[in-house]
Amino acid sequence: MRCSGGIRTIIRFAERGALLGVIGAGTCGGPSSGSPPPPPPPSSDTIPLRTLAAARGLRIGCAVDRGFRYGGSDGATFRAKLVREFSMLTPENDMKHARIHPARDTYRFEPADSLVALAEANGMQVRGHTLVWHRQLAGWLTSGTWTPDTARALLHDHIASVVGHYRGRLAAWDVVNEALAGDGSPRPGFWYDHIGRDYVELAFRWAHQADPNVALFYNDYDIEGINGKSDSAYALIQRLLARGVPIHGIGLQAHVRLGGVPTTLRANIARFAQLGLEVHITELDVRMPLPPTAAQLQTQADDYRDVLGACLSSAPACDALVMWGFSDRESWIPGTFPGWGAALIFDAAYRPKLAFLALYDLLK
Ligand code: XIL
Repeated sequence: MRCSGGIRTIIRFAERGALLGVIGAGTCGGPSSGSPPPPPPPSSDTIPLRTLAAARGLRIGCAVDRGFRYGGSDGATFRAKLVREFSMLTPENDMKHARIHPARDTYRFEPADSLVALAEANGMQVRGHTLVWHRQLAGWLTSGTWTPDTARALLHDHIASVVGHYRGRLAAWDVVNEALAGDGSPRPGFWYDHIGRDYVELAFRWAHQADPNVALFYNDYDIEGINGKSDSAYALIQRLLARGVPIHGIGLQAHVRLGGVPTTLRANIARFAQLGLEVHITELDVRMPLPPTAAQLQTQADDYRDVLGACLSSAPACDALVMWGFSDRESWIPGTFPGWGAALIFDAAYRPKLAFLALYDLLK
């Protein structure tokens, strides 16, 4: 029964005297609308998530973009939480084509460099995101007219320059992002339209040449469960492996809706692991209709626990769980899915939510 684990979590914290006020709010039969989020335990009472995760051979991370640039005490609070709880960091936007390669002969590495430096200074690993995608491409590229040969040369230059710049410093690269359409066919987009389906294989080979030691990932959404699209991703990767293409991992984005963790997540992770791949949960968030209710926050906690549990069940192959941000203050969800939000494990005031407690409880 999904509710019981959450209640257990709450009671365990309550026993430590940290969370007495929460017991009523978190039960499944409790008030379901308008209830404020429960008071959290002070985070100084808890062991950092990254410490608990490390004991399980897991890296736990989050994407970073906006909060990193806050000034004053806001920035200090953001960074303190970030480096305390997480052992992995993904630049949310700063390594994307449009940001890092704003003109044909211009790379702008400084914003991503400062994130990588922050990670290194705090013993965090970095997932590079992303080299080849149909979105967030620089205007100079998409508005130009290019022959197939020139497009290949442009892709090679981009990958060699960006991967080369970070050579030896990253743990993983999302080399190709979202190359499959919903029906599993190749998704149309700039690189596919100009180069044809070979662009995927070329990208992995060129990334490997530029940094032979970084783990190279295919990353996509709606491939968390066993379905037509994940079957296509599986077939694509099998084909690449059979051709000797250097691909080392599969990234399951996991932008899920409340209550929407696929029941086949575990089995799906296991089958990719059986291909000899590393599996990363790369962009986990669990969005809900706003405003959040106590019941929704409990369901969300159960969802987070289910995803972590699925990853742990394929240890050591599933060795990283990365969320798409860590607090509801910075999440991309409200801007992209109007009316939805509260998708992360800390609230907008950086207080841990039930979802945080669920991860904590399962890792402990
Ligand atoms: C999103 C960022 O979070 C937003 O800030 C940006 O405006 C658009 O992209 N899948 C991905 C991520 O692989 O790169 C996307 O990130 C979210 C969906």
